Amino acid sequence: MKISVIGAGNVGGLAAMRILERGIAEVVLVDIVKGIAKAKAFDLDDARSIAGHDNFIEGSEDFSQIKGSDIVVVTAGLARKPGMTREDLLKSNYEIAKNISSHIKRFSPDSIIIAVSNPVDIMTYVLLKETGFDKKRVIGMGANLDSSRFNNLISKKFNIPGSRIKALVIGSHGESMIPLPRFSLVKGKPLTKILSKDDVEDLVKATKNRGAGIVSLYGSGSAYFAPGAAILEICMAIIKNRDAVIPVSAYLDGEYGSSGVCIGVPARIGRDGIRKIVELKLDQEEKELFSASVKSIKESISIIYKQ
Ligand code: 2OP
Repeated sequence: MKISVIGAGNVGGLAAMRILERGIAEVVLVDIVKGIAKAKAFDLDDARSIAGHDNFIEGSEDFSQIKGSDIVVVTAGLARKPGMTREDLLKSNYEIAKNISSHIKRFSPDSIIIAVSNPVDIMTYVLLKETGFDKKRVIGMGANLDSSRFNNLISKKFNIPGSRIKALVIGSHGESMIPLPRFSLVKGKPLTKILSKDDVEDLVKATKNRGAGIVSLYGSGSAYFAPGAAILEICMAIIKNRDAVIPVSAYLDGEYGSSGVCIGVPARIGRDGIRKIVELKLDQEEKELFSASVKSIKESISIIYKQ
């Protein structure tokens, strides 16, 4: 198996490390910034005998090195600065994603793309549109990271391990993110049945603000350890053909009553990418939040494509 990671910043580097340490694929790291991909690849490769895996990593400035990849992870793009929303990144990262699409189409036409650059739902749409790939083969990482953050915050609140919790976040990986307390279970019980409304609301808010909080603590750059883990989760589901239900940004074609948008929803992921979008029975309030989220993503898409 071959996984190419485009963008050798913190997220790309961490994703490469997690993939290598699982021993699931050889990795090619590509970055147009001179030297960085090669440096990180040398550094990661030097750890191979200690970290205990046998997969090689190459670093390059040359996109042709991604040739024949099974998966291409796109992390390239500018990161958020404090005070900046993910949507602020829209225009510059669109140009970057468009350029990367042409290289993926040329060198890895049969790959599955995992979009990571922000704003991720829009970048997923751009990569889908610009490559012309089947909608199954372009998957956005965001909702599984948000769900993992929600899980962590619930786990801290109850002081129980995350493995006893099932947390779910859908919608955009942005301002209109939708943590779903009714579908989030603690030892099998919905959060809404075991916490007060105010406590639930606090957890929802904390989840929505988690990414921005990390950005502001770093001062420059954004989270990368949990994003790296979220990328690995999707790679594992594909490579191991797990048919696992993972919240990802997926292209909707009538599901949830929406079309022409990529947005966070639970989906079955396997060797061929997105097998099926899982449709939850949302209540009225959840439906309204979802519609608002779809609307905000579509507004951003229309800025790019002037629909
Ligand atoms: C995050 O949520 C930057 O989108 C990234 O941490």
